[in-house]
Amino acid sequence: MSNTLVVVGAQWGDEGKGKITDFYAGGADVVVRHQGGNNAGHTIVFDGKKFALQSIPSGVFNPHIINVMANGMVINPVSLLEELDRLHKAGITDYKLYISDRAACVMPYHAMLDGAYEALKGGRQIGTTKKGIGPAYTDKYSRVGIRMGDLLDKEYFAERLKDALAQKNIELQALGMEPCDFDTIYNQYLALGEQLRPMICDTSVLLNRLVEDGKKVLFEGAQGVMLCIDHGTYPFVTSSSPTAASVPVNTGLAPRYVDNVMGVAKAYTTRVGEGPFPTELFDERAEYIRERGHEYGTVTGRPRRVGWLDAVVLNHVRRISGLNYLSLMLFDVLSGLEKIRICTGYKLDGKHIDYVPSTIAQLERVEAEYIELDGWMEDITSIKNYDELPANAKAYIAKVEELTRTEVAVVSVGPDREQTIIRKDIF
Ligand code: GDP
Ligand code: IMO
Ligand code: MG
Repeated sequence: MSNTLVVVGAQWGDEGKGKITDFYAGGADVVVRHQGGNNAGHTIVFDGKKFALQSIPSGVFNPHIINVMANGMVINPVSLLEELDRLHKAGITDYKLYISDRAACVMPYHAMLDGAYEALKGGRQIGTTKKGIGPAYTDKYSRVGIRMGDLLDKEYFAERLKDALAQKNIELQALGMEPCDFDTIYNQYLALGEQLRPMICDTSVLLNRLVEDGKKVLFEGAQGVMLCIDHGTYPFVTSSSPTAASVPVNTGLAPRYVDNVMGVAKAYTTRVGEGPFPTELFDERAEYIRERGHEYGTVTGRPRRVGWLDAVVLNHVRRISGLNYLSLMLFDVLSGLEKIRICTGYKLDGKHIDYVPSTIAQLERVEAEYIELDGWMEDITSIKNYDELPANAKAYIAKVEELTRTEVAVVSVGPDREQTIIRKDIF
């Protein structure tokens, strides 16, 4: 058994990464969020209580866990403090949380620009969460970003903010918006930095020490590989890479520590926001799944688009992220369907293909090819052992393993921590 495990979203996000991370956190010492920001919404349910986390790692409910928000993240200090406040109000006060001094800071102008860029796109909006994630990553790469550690040094932060606003205010005004006032942002963000100061540190030094001490580390991806800036359905993607390959860069840990990868996939597929979705359903079966799975966005409340499981997508993710195992989530939602389909390939301009084409123009033209399996009628939400699942449910899992050449180590039959069937101990 390995000392590290990367939890990777294997579809378009919302696969149940929060639940799986919280589940494995029981046996971990450290939980690390390594990319994305408060565009994520990770739901954790235990003892009948439901929590939705946006940027805080899902290990926060285990008091012994060290939680790390690593350098690959984009962190909005205002919303982070609100999130911490919500946890405190719910009685979660006993936690350890560290924030990378190198993580990018989401500034007020980033959300303004996110909305403005979307509005400029005519009919081709991405459907972003409007949290400023794209503009914050853009600034990081164009080297005018503010980092969390910058907020702790008055003089240095003043220089960085002056340089950033020199660019940003031209852009804001060109887009018909008011420029940002230096003093207002400077004073507000210095104060936010002071509030967060006790948590901000060099998390690469911390993580390397913990790993070298033999601690068990869980990396919690946000979004999903189909939303990856490199390997997703570009441009309908987020602005970071949720792959296992990005963990070393995003955390400052050597690649040799990353060897065990758990892909998290729903037993069907959902997507929130725009972009191609070859197995999307539009009939009453979509409605059935959406209602049973409560498929409405955690962050924005938008109804999620729903479709069949897509093995082309899962194989794409397996190739890129080197999945060792799969967790099959929301399996209980499929109960009651007479027939269940799995997409095994695509037809593109009359030709069979088994990969995800690179352009949206092509991906919008593909037709999904399916196999059809018999469903099951039983309620499976209180089943604890794999053997007790209905025969057709087991046949479905076996087919997923065959099509993806990946072992299904976990089957989730409800949102609660307890509703988890473990087929293999991996961490
Ligand atoms: P994440 O973004 O990957 O962490 O996933 P979300 O939390 O956005 O969405 C997953 C949703 O499914 C949440 O509402 C979870 O509580 C819920 N959920 C997770 N696993 C199961 C399951 O096995 N069955 C059911 N019915 N709901 C689940
Ligand atoms: P979790 O971690 C589902 C989607 C948005 C939009 C696109 C770009 O909960 O799985 P962004 O605001 O990131 O620039 O939006 O990505 N998106 C998600 N969809 N789950 C998420 O996170 C998502 N984070 C971003 O809906 O289509
Ligand atoms: Mg989510």
